[in-house]
Amino acid sequence: MVQPLRIAPSILSADFSRLGAEIAAIDKAGADWIHLDVMDGHFVPNITFGPAVITHARSATKKPFDVHLMIAPVDPYLEAFAEAGAQTITVHAEAGPHLDRSLQTIRDLGKRAGVALNPATPAAVIEPVLERIDLILVMTVNPGFGGQAFIPAMLEKITQLKAMIAGRGIDIEVDGGITPATAGEAARAGANVLVAGSAVFKGGTSAYAGNIAAIRAAAQAARGEDC
Ligand code: DX5
Ligand code: ZN
Repeated sequence: MVQPLRIAPSILSADFSRLGAEIAAIDKAGADWIHLDVMDGHFVPNITFGPAVITHARSATKKPFDVHLMIAPVDPYLEAFAEAGAQTITVHAEAGPHLDRSLQTIRDLGKRAGVALNPATPAAVIEPVLERIDLILVMTVNPGFGGQAFIPAMLEKITQLKAMIAGRGIDIEVDGGITPATAGEAARAGANVLVAGSAVFKGGTSAYAGNIAAIRAAAQAARGEDC
C-alpha cells in the first residue's frame, strides 16, 4: 500500500505575532497538514507553546493538526492536546519509560498515534509498538530548533523503517532540514510526510505557495509521480 504524499509546514518558523494569519496563509498555499512543535525546555533545549495556543490556532484552518510533542513527561498532557484539536499526536521514544502506554492513551483518545526517533535512536525501538502506531517521525536534525542541516545518515534509518512497516498503513515522516534538495532523497528512501519550517516560511507570504510546490515537486519526482 502506497502512503499518500503530505507536505506539513512547521509553524515553528512562522511569525508568532500573526499566528492565525500565518496558518491561514500556508493552508491557502497548499499545506496538507499543519505541523506544531511543542517544546518544554527540558526534553529539548527550547520552549514554544502548549495546548492553549493550539486551541486558538484551530480556528485558522480545517487542515489536520500534526502535533509533535518534545516534552517529558508527556502522559499527563496527552488529553489536553487531544482536546486542543490534534489529529495526530506524536511522542518521542526517548521521552519516557512508558512508550507503549502513551501510544495506547493517544489511540484511546481517538487520535492517530505517532512515535518520533531522535537521530541517535535506532529504528529497532519501533518494532515492539508497530501495531499501536499510525506514524513514525524520523528526526533528520537534533530536535529543538528550525534551520539546521539535514543529517544524511538518517536516510538509511528511513529505508530500514520502510522495510519494517512492510505494507502496513503507517506514515513515515521526516522532520528537520527538509528543502527541495533533501525532500527528494527522503522520499526516495521511503518517507511520505515531509515537515518543513524554514524552507516554507522563507521569502514572505507571497512565496509560501512556491516554496511548498517546490518541495512537493521534488518528492513527487522521487516517487515517480506526475507533478
Ligand atoms: C525541530 C522541529 C521541526 C522544525 C523543522 O525540532 O521538530 O519541526 O520546525 O525546521 P526546519 O524545517 O527549518 O529544519
Ligand atoms: Zn517537528
